[in-house]
Amino acid sequence: MFNQIRNLKIGILGGGQLGKMLCLAAADWDLNIAVLDPDPNCSARTYCKNYTQGHFNDYDTVMSFGQSLDVLTVEIEHVNTAALRDLQKQGKKVHPDPALLELIQDKSKQKKWYVENKIPTERFDFQYFKLSKPSHYPMIWKAALGGYDGKGVALLKDESDFDKMPDVPFLLEHLTDIDKEIAVMVARNERGEVVTYPPVEMVFDKEANLLDYQLCPALIDPKTAKKARQLAENIIKKLNLCGLLAVELFLNKKGELLVNEIAPRPHNSGHHTIETIETSQFEQHWRAVLNLPLGNTRLLSPSVLLNILGEKGQTGIAQYENFDHVFQTAGAHLHLYGKTTTKPFRKMGHLTVADKSLEKALEKTLNLKKILKVTT
Ligand SMILES: Nc1ncnc2c1ncn2[C@@H]1O[C@H](COP(=O)(O)OP(=O)(O)OP(=O)(O)O)[C@@H](O)[C@H]1O
Ligand SMILES: [Mg+2]
Repeated sequence: MFNQIRNLKIGILGGGQLGKMLCLAAADWDLNIAVLDPDPNCSARTYCKNYTQGHFNDYDTVMSFGQSLDVLTVEIEHVNTAALRDLQKQGKKVHPDPALLELIQDKSKQKKWYVENKIPTERFDFQYFKLSKPSHYPMIWKAALGGYDGKGVALLKDESDFDKMPDVPFLLEHLTDIDKEIAVMVARNERGEVVTYPPVEMVFDKEANLLDYQLCPALIDPKTAKKARQLAENIIKKLNLCGLLAVELFLNKKGELLVNEIAPRPHNSGHHTIETIETSQFEQHWRAVLNLPLGNTRLLSPSVLLNILGEKGQTGIAQYENFDHVFQTAGAHLHLYGKTTTKPFRKMGHLTVADKSLEKALEKTLNLKKILKVTT
């Protein structure tokens, strides 16, 4: 089986940092990877065997990219699924399934699916259009399509906030009384094997609405952790999804778990797995997509993950200030994404700090966070 896998031509739609890290994992097994991305300076470009410049949203581009390939997968869900469906009809293996990508691309379809499948999620009102105003505030406004890294989400405090929103399809969600934000990675292969990863706890930067740092394991009671993993397992089984799935959850102040959203690919909340879980999310993605037995998800060490973001007010060629301190910190592992230019809050890399004690790992991370800066 492995000899057949080694002969496969495998394509990834998208060549950002997730694509790069998928390529690095694939390199361990000498897999033959092609990447499609519009940016010729994309993170994955120099880590794949073949790079094609073009947009993964364009039907013709995806069709012609897929012609010479046997297997297609994604590092981003916003891709042209009509082309993936047609490639699938030609006999190409496409994981995750294009129908699932379509479901996940549209947040209003995602929410309906949770309700139909009795998956706990925050209450919401179906798609409003600008004509019909919300009946009460505060509410969370979410663009149905194309949201990413918090950019399609807004808190509406009153009607004037609502009036500022763009005229695109959206849904309105009730505000969750969030105690913690949790994420669980789960993987499934064609044979139906499923593995889940230990839940992580995400702490957000309120201003940028981006992950600030993340703790693994999450500081939640074992019962809640078990429930979160069961929920993730239930979702991936119900979807019949082959590949990786990130399940973002809210733990509300009543102690209930609510599914916020899912992402069918490697995820920011799984980056620590490279160093601190027996099988990294990137290796697991290949195991799942290529129908190999799934790898063990045993925790090797607690860790804190810090996103390295472009400094506010700085746009241009990136300079890494004070990064020598990373190498003087035991347990700290640096990953830069190969982006030459920085802009405010752009994800330039991440840092995983592993330590026997989660508290110690957090202390080390916060010390580094104070001094590490990406400027111009
Ligand atoms: N119903 C809600 N109540 C309170 N806060 C919310 C709610 N929905 C979303 N948020 C906040 O907004 C953040 C971003 O929301 P969401 O994950 O749906 O958007 P996104 O654009 O897909 O973000 P990302 O790509 O960063 O995951 C959440 O992590 C959470 O902090
Ligand atoms: Mg999210």
